[in-house]
Amino acid sequence: MSHIFLVGFMGAGKTTVARLLAERLDRPCIDVDEIIEAETGRSVREIFEAEGESAFRALESAALLSLQKAQPSVVACGGGIVTRDENRSVLKRLGCVVYLKVSAGETLARVGADGTRPLLSGPGGVLAATSLLEARESLYAAVADISVDTVGLSAEQVADQVASAIEGSCA
Ligand code: S3P
Repeated sequence: MSHIFLVGFMGAGKTTVARLLAERLDRPCIDVDEIIEAETGRSVREIFEAEGESAFRALESAALLSLQKAQPSVVACGGGIVTRDENRSVLKRLGCVVYLKVSAGETLARVGADGTRPLLSGPGGVLAATSLLEARESLYAAVADISVDTVGLSAEQVADQVASAIEGSCA
């Protein structure tokens, strides 16, 4: 099997679930935001502030593409990765895509105030979460081989559900 990609909105738990799943499947765990941070020596927030979102998106596409050379891994993707058509094609080509669903309210409760998500920071954060999620939902669904609703579940429970769904759909 090739990569297992976790996609979904900010706060869906992609990074935590990816770690748990990678341990269970005995695979490396990769975080696309971390590749970008390691390559640039800057945090996601700093990149957004200094160069803007489109520069970040270009780095994100390059980081995703670099995974075609990596051994089969569990990959946590940034929430906006699905917004570029080319990224959705690369995701489909390189592996099995798991959509972790979350509500805007749950996103804000989990990560809204921690200052690490530039797209949710500031007074417009609540509106941004709702409208961004609405705009992206169909993109997540279009690219996903599997969808798991995370609301009310612990990361371990989500990892359980993903692990069993993968056996059936992504072997
Ligand atoms: C983003 C999600 C973030 C990060 C950046 C942009 C988005 O990753 O890539 O802040 O557009 O949804 P997480 O989904 O891991 O928070």
